[in-house]
Amino acid sequence: MKLFLAPLQGLTNYYYRNIYQDLFEGIDLYYAPFITTSTSFKIGQSAFKDILPENNNNIDIVVPQLLSNDGEGFRKYAKIISEMGYKEINWNLGCPYPTVTKKKRGSGLLPYPDMIRKVLDEACKDTNYNLTVKMRLGLHDPEEGFEVMEVLNDYPISGVMLHARIGKQKYEGTVDLDAFEEQYKICKHDMTYNGDIYSYEDYVKIQSRFPNIDKFMIGRGALMDPFLPSLIKNNGFYIPNEMDKIKELHDRVFSHYENVLSGEKHLLDRMKEFWTYLSVHIDPSGKFLKSIKKSKNKDTYLNIVNKVLNSSFNWRK
Ligand SMILES: Cc1cc2nc3c(=O)[nH]c(=O)nc-3n(C[C@H](O)[C@H](O)[C@H](O)COP(=O)(O)O)c2cc1C
Repeated sequence: MKLFLAPLQGLTNYYYRNIYQDLFEGIDLYYAPFITTSTSFKIGQSAFKDILPENNNNIDIVVPQLLSNDGEGFRKYAKIISEMGYKEINWNLGCPYPTVTKKKRGSGLLPYPDMIRKVLDEACKDTNYNLTVKMRLGLHDPEEGFEVMEVLNDYPISGVMLHARIGKQKYEGTVDLDAFEEQYKICKHDMTYNGDIYSYEDYVKIQSRFPNIDKFMIGRGALMDPFLPSLIKNNGFYIPNEMDKIKELHDRVFSHYENVLSGEKHLLDRMKEFWTYLSVHIDPSGKFLKSIKKSKNKDTYLNIVNKVLNSSFNWRK
């Protein structure tokens, strides 16, 4: 069974992936947040900062992702990426944000199977990389995903990661496992399940409904509990409380942002987003997160978080 860390723009960037790899177990591949392709002749190096080999401790377990709706742009970017040494490139057909979908990108491309075909005609010409597709059930309706799945079946892609929501839901509501099952049944490619695995029990529920799926992608659940992937790999066996690892994760992410961002406000904004996930298990009442969100300077912030990070919180009581 393989576990993949889902890409989360602004959260699972290279420093987070490197630190996570150092401290935690259970993740087999790290999917990097999307890079948007452009049609401009010259491609700036800054677009690739997150996946530059010198920024990533081990590129063999990192998969870059492209957000694109044009085949030529895709190929151009994919060529640069594969020349860096990456073996797999992932295509984002899932992003739900209106600024993206209205340009027919991400899940905004799902209602247009013919456009998807055109991109794949180009993207599949280059055999220097394996192409995988990360998608949602549809933009407005799972019917759209059905048609897309039939298109994908015609191409030599290496796998599909299916987030069991439609784009219009963004991250709200629940996953639609019935629609997932229907699309999974017609998909001829290797299928990875994605969506709302927050605990070992969630994983077991999905795994027992789809016993032939052996690849799972976890995003927010791993950010909320970085021990979750190893718990799943260990069949739910208890892992001793390791608050020191959480402290190290925090301190290294904090120090990265402190070095690269200018001004306390930017630093605190980033850390507040980081804690939106990491506080879920530590702080079910939300009080701790509220006080972090109120902090206006670095010292107050560190005072608040160090109280928790120096405690011996038990992740799985
Ligand atoms: C803040 C945020 C940023 C995301 N960025 C990306 C991205 O860059 N590429 C992508 O394919 N999905 C992105 N996603 C979607 C996740 O990869 C994943 O599909 C989704 O969160 C469902 O999985 P989960 O329930 O395990 O989190 C993002 C999700 C969130 C919440």
